Amino acid sequence: MIDGEVPDPRRARAVEQYLILGIDHGFNASTFTARVVTSTGADVGAAVVAGIGALSGPLHGGAPSRALDTLDAIGTPERTEAWVRDAVGAGDRIMGFGHAVYKTADPRSVMLRDIARSLGGDRVEFAVQVEDTVERVLAELKPGRELHTNVEYYAGVVMEQCGIPRELFTSTFAASRVVGWCAHVLEQSTETAIIRPSARYVGPEPPQPVPPAPR
Ligand SMILES: CC(C)(COP(=O)(O)OP(=O)(O)OC[C@H]1O[C@@H](n2cnc3c(N)ncnc32)[C@H](O)[C@@H]1OP(=O)(O)O)[C@@H](O)C(=O)NCCC(=O)NCCS
Repeated sequence: MIDGEVPDPRRARAVEQYLILGIDHGFNASTFTARVVTSTGADVGAAVVAGIGALSGPLHGGAPSRALDTLDAIGTPERTEAWVRDAVGAGDRIMGFGHAVYKTADPRSVMLRDIARSLGGDRVEFAVQVEDTVERVLAELKPGRELHTNVEYYAGVVMEQCGIPRELFTSTFAASRVVGWCAHVLEQSTETAIIRPSARYVGPEPPQPVPPAPR
C-alpha cells in the first residue's frame, strides 16, 4: 500500500519472499552488534537500534540501493565492461558483489534472481546481463576471490520492480532482519558474560630507554 494502491498479488508475494529470505543469516555484522549490546545487559530496544546502525552501512544492508545506482551509472549493457574496469582500477567495490562468507553464488541471490525474472521486464534482463559481465571481469581482475552477486543485488531489483522507493530499501531489510536480531537477543540474554574481545597492540615500539616524564 506504499503508493496508496492495493498491490498486484505477484508483487506483494515477491516482497514477502524477500522478507522471509532476509529474516536471519548467522553472525552477520548487525546480528553480532545486537548480541554485543545485549551482552552488556542493555534492553532489546537498544540492541535493535544498534543492529539498525550496523545494517545501514554500505558494506552491509545499505548496498541494495547502491547496487541500483550502479545499474543506472552503467546505463547500457555494452558499457558494463569498461565501467567495471574503471571502477576496480580506481579501487572501488562493485555494490552487490562479494560476500564475507560465500565464495560461491549466494543462494539467496539465486532465489531472488528467479523472483525478479518471474516479475519480468527490461530492467531485470539488464541486471542479469550486468551480473554476467561483472562476474567475468571481476574473475579476471581479482582472480581467486570468487566474487559473485550477494543478496543485495537482486533485492534491489526485486524491490524496484515492486514499487518500493530506494530510500526504503534498507528499512525494508531491517523490517525483516529484526526477527533474527530479536531471536539472537533472546538467546544472548541467557548468557551472563559480556562480549569483550581482547586487542593486540601493533603500533610503534616505545623509545628505549623510555625518556623521563616531563616535570
Ligand atoms: C561484502 C564484502 C564486504 C565482503 O568482503 P570480504 O569477503 O571481507 O572481502 P575482502 O574485503 O577481504 O576483499 C577480498 C578481495 O576482493 C575484492 N572485493 C571484494 N568485494 C568486491 C567488490 N564488490 N568489488 C570489487 N572488488 C571486491 C577486494 O578489493 C579484495 O581485493 P584484494 O585482495 O586485491 O585487496 C565485500 O565483498 C564488499 O565490499 N562488497 C560490496 C558491498 C556489498 O555488496 N555489500 C553487501 C553484502 S551482503
